[in-house]
This record gives sequence, structure tokens and C-alpha cells, in this order.
Amino acid sequence: MSAADLAHAADALDVAAVRAAFPALQRVHGGHPVAYFDGPGGTQVPRAVVDAMADYLLHHNANTHWAYPTSVETDAVITAAREAAADLLGGAPGEIVFGHNMTTLAFHLARALRRGGADVAPFGPGDEVVVTELDHHANVAPWRTLAQECGGAVRVARLDPATGTLDWDHLAAQLGPRTRLLAIGAASNALGTQVDVAAAARLARGVGALTFVDGVHAVPHLRFDVRALAAAGVDFVGCSAYKFYGPHAGLLWGRAELLAGLDVPKLAPAPSGAPERFETGTQNHEGMAGTSAAVDFLASLGDDAGAPSGARRERLGRAYGRLHAAGSALLAPLWEGLRALPDVTLYGPPPGTPRTPTVSFTVGGVPSRQVARALAARGVFVSHGDFYAQTVAERLGVAGAGFVRAGCAAYTTAAEVERLVDGVAALVRA
Ligand SMILES: Cc1ncc(COP(=O)(O)O)c(C=O)c1O
Repeated sequence: MSAADLAHAADALDVAAVRAAFPALQRVHGGHPVAYFDGPGGTQVPRAVVDAMADYLLHHNANTHWAYPTSVETDAVITAAREAAADLLGGAPGEIVFGHNMTTLAFHLARALRRGGADVAPFGPGDEVVVTELDHHANVAPWRTLAQECGGAVRVARLDPATGTLDWDHLAAQLGPRTRLLAIGAASNALGTQVDVAAAARLARGVGALTFVDGVHAVPHLRFDVRALAAAGVDFVGCSAYKFYGPHAGLLWGRAELLAGLDVPKLAPAPSGAPERFETGTQNHEGMAGTSAAVDFLASLGDDAGAPSGARRERLGRAYGRLHAAGSALLAPLWEGLRALPDVTLYGPPPGTPRTPTVSFTVGGVPSRQVARALAARGVFVSHGDFYAQTVAERLGVAGAGFVRAGCAAYTTAAEVERLVDGVAALVRA
């Protein structure tokens, strides 16, 4: 966080006002109000996002680039969505590609990279991609497929299981003259570990490689500045609106030259300019409308008494400062409360280190699904399994059994954290 963001973090997030925006928080399960700790798998959605999607479908629905009003309005919805995503990430609207989700966008980009284009040689035999053990497999499989299809190789940077962080010496050792691409996550969806992707991109640039950053788990919690990241060597960032209070839609930011020059598979009559050339077929227009509204919702978290002040990017900066402060304030009691319980094992870096407020744990002898079911009976919704961060689970010795994962979001309260800890305590005592 920048000094300016930290200064803004002093004024707290108005969690009561945030909660009022989410109809899902009215849900009662087994007589208990539901506490949603499943944000890392997909956050709840504020009414304003659903309203924006309904408004689009009910009043502006059309295909693009035609001469009648609803089509013109659809074009405007798409333009506005690119502007919103650009504000969110700190880039330009022309560098924002929409898609189904990050996984699909990454497979699509992998295919384009294999074919190469202006300034990018096609990937070929012997070319190497570097991925990490800390990553969700959406940031592994597309690049593994790319390496397989071009006759290249994959190198895997190690995770240090003791700390839940990357082994940076090992990462540096994987990069060499054959490296064409580094794929690295900005934060682990399993352990919450934040990764200095700018430092990683500098290493990759040092050997002439491109860098793809998976921002899916990080973007809901951490302010992105793709201009600064690009200066360090980052070429692409992927993320998903459904993790930051939006609909199920994926986003890809890419350096303008690459989006314009890569030989991406496309229909001949479809737009040939970037970013549209990366978008296959008719897009999820209502998802774009919802994504704009989700960015506006996030920005509103930086407003005082609901009064917008300053440009959206500036408001987002304040919002992230408040989210960081609120997340840290919840993480400490969550971590300490669980740590104090016998038979509970916590994974990943402790509070006070660069991390998101996402905690994974196991309860000795109790399968993770059973823990999640017991908590659900108390209205506490947590996820379980490996969350597709399969290698993390393997390296930490919980493959098969899986983690229990609790993620704090903008709507999470200290009382909900207490309910979660009490629920695990009851299970341990049983
Ligand atoms: C860190 C991370 N990367 C990638 C993904 C995949 O995202 P999507 O569902 O948008 O493909 C997820 C989904 O949980 C994730 O947490």
C-alpha cells in the first residue's frame, strides 16, 4: 500500500453500510443469519450490481455496432465497462479484454502466444515457461498446454511449505535464456500469501521473458497499478469480477502493443483492432454492465458518508486503504482464535505479513468437508478442498483431505469471525 492509501486507512470502512447493500446477508440458515466466508470462491453481490444487469437486459439489450438506440446503448455499456476496469487496474480502457472467466482468457492468450505476432516470436521447441507451486491451476494448465503444444518445457518454482511463500532463489534459478514466459499469481487463493509480482517480473524481464500475473485472488483486496507493473515487466494481468462483488465475468489487461500484435484466433469479419480482436463472439453485455457497477461499488467504499469525492481511481485508492485496514483487523482475531484451539493447524503466512485476509486450516482427524458442514449448520459458510491450488495442497500434505478456507470480505464483521472460531471450537471439543 502507498503512504497515501495508509493515511486513508485511518478512517474505517462503514461495514454496516456495506452490509445494507447485500440482500444475500438477509439469509437465515437453521435459525442463524448466514456469515459468508466463501469470498475467495466468489463474493456476494450488492443490489446495485444486479440492478445494473437487470436494467441492461430489460431496457438496453441488443447486439453491438448497429444504428438504433439499444445497440448504441450496448456499445456505451461496453465502453463504460472497459473504463471501469481500467480505473480498477490503473490501465487504459483499450487494454481491457472481457471474457468468460480468467481460466478461459488464459487458455485463449496461451494459444495466441504460441502463434506469436508482432514483436513476439512463435513459441517453439525448447522454449520454457515458468509457473509456481503456489498458484491456482488456472495459472498453470494454460501455460503447461502451451509448452506441450510447442514442444517446450515447464519449470516449476517451489513453494516453501514452512512459510507458505515462494522460494525466490528457486524461482530465480528457473529463469534462463530459454524462458519465454513467467506465470505468477499476485496472491494465493489457498494461503492468502501476497507475492511481489513486480520483483518477479523484473527477474523475468532480465532474461527477456514475458510475465502473466494472475490477479484473481489479489484484486478484491489489493490496489493494482498496471502502469507501475508494466514498468517492472508485467505484460498481462487476469482477474474475475465475481471475486470483487461483480457477476461471473473475466477480465484481461494486456500491454496495448501485445493486444494489437499477437496472432489471436478470431473470425475474419470480427473487429480487428484491440481489445475487441481478443474477444470471441458476442460478449456477456449484462456481465459488463454488472462489472462496471461492481467497480463503482468498490469505489464507493472510499467515499465519506456516501458522498463521492474525486475521480473513480482516487476513490478506489481510498477504498483499498479501508479494505486493507478492515481485513487486517479481522484477520488477527481469526488467526489467533483458531491458533489457540487444540488440533487446529493453520497454513500460510501469519498476520502482519503481506497477505490477504484468507485463512486455510485443518482440524485434526476431521475431514474438511465435515468441518464445513458442521459450520454451515451454524450459518457459517466456509469452503473446503484444494480450491484448484492443487500443488499447494500436495506440498502442505493435505491433498485429498483438503483445507477449510475462510475468507474475509468487505461485509465481514468481527462478530462473524467470533462465530466461526466458536464453531470450530465446538467441533474440537466434541
Ligand atoms: C487465484 C485464482 N486464480 C484463478 C482462478 C480461476 O478464475 P476463473 O474462475 O475466473 O477462471 C481462481 C478461482 O478461484 C483463483 O482463485
